[in-house]
Amino acid sequence: MIRLASAADTQSLADLAVATPGAPHWTLAHYMHMLTTAASTHAVWVTHLAQNTIGFAAFTVHPPHAELESVAVHPAYQGQGHGRALLTTALHHLAASGIERVHLEVRTSSPAQALYRKLGFVSNGQRPRYYINPVEDAILMQWTVADSPPSTHPLSGIIRFDYGS
Ligand SMILES: CC(C)(COP(=O)(O)OP(=O)(O)OC[C@H]1O[C@@H](n2cnc3c(N)ncnc32)[C@H](O)[C@@H]1OP(=O)(O)O)[C@@H](O)C(=O)NCCC(=O)NCCS
Repeated sequence: MIRLASAADTQSLADLAVATPGAPHWTLAHYMHMLTTAASTHAVWVTHLAQNTIGFAAFTVHPPHAELESVAVHPAYQGQGHGRALLTTALHHLAASGIERVHLEVRTSSPAQALYRKLGFVSNGQRPRYYINPVEDAILMQWTVADSPPSTHPLSGIIRFDYGS
C-alpha cells in the first residue's frame, strides 16, 4: 500500500535510508521536520508491504512547484516496480492538488535517471560539482503536468491529499 507518511514514520524512513545505498543520509531530525511539516512544505509517500516500510518518496512543496528531494526503495525490493508506483502515485496527487511542475537534481552517474525519464522528467540543465563525497555534477530535471499527465498506478492504495491554502 502507498500512503502519505506521518511523524510516526520517522524512524522507519531513517532506517530504510540507512539500509539503501544511494539514499540520502539525512538526520533523524530532518526526517522529523519533513514529516511534521507535511501538508505545508513537505509531502512524503511511503510504500508498505507486509507491515514493513520498503520505500519512500519525499518532496518539498511550494505551489505551484514541487521538488523531489529523494526516492528510495529497499534493496531487497528494487526492480519490482515499487519506485515507479511511488512516484506515479505522488505525481498524480501533486498534480491533483495544483502542482504544475516538479524539479529534481540527480548525480550524473545515478541510475535513477532511467526511472525519472520513464516518468516523463526531462533534463533542463546541469550544476557543475554540485555534489560532494564524491564530487560530481548534478543533472537538473523537470516534470510538467502539461507534458506528462499522471495516472494512478494500479499498485497504489487509496489516499486523499489536500494542501489546503
Ligand atoms: C532508484 C530507485 C528508487 C528505483 O526504484 P525501483 O523500485 O528499483 O524501480 P522500479 O522497479 O520501479 O523501476 C521503474 C523503471 O525504472 C527503471 N530503473 C529503475 N532503476 C533502474 C536502474 N538502476 N537502472 C536502470 N533502470 C532502472 C526500470 O527499468 C523500470 O523501467 P520499467 O518500469 O519500464 O521496467 C531504487 O533503485 C533506489 O532506491 N535506489 C537507491 C536510492 C537512489 O539512488 N535514489 C535516487 C536518488 S536520491
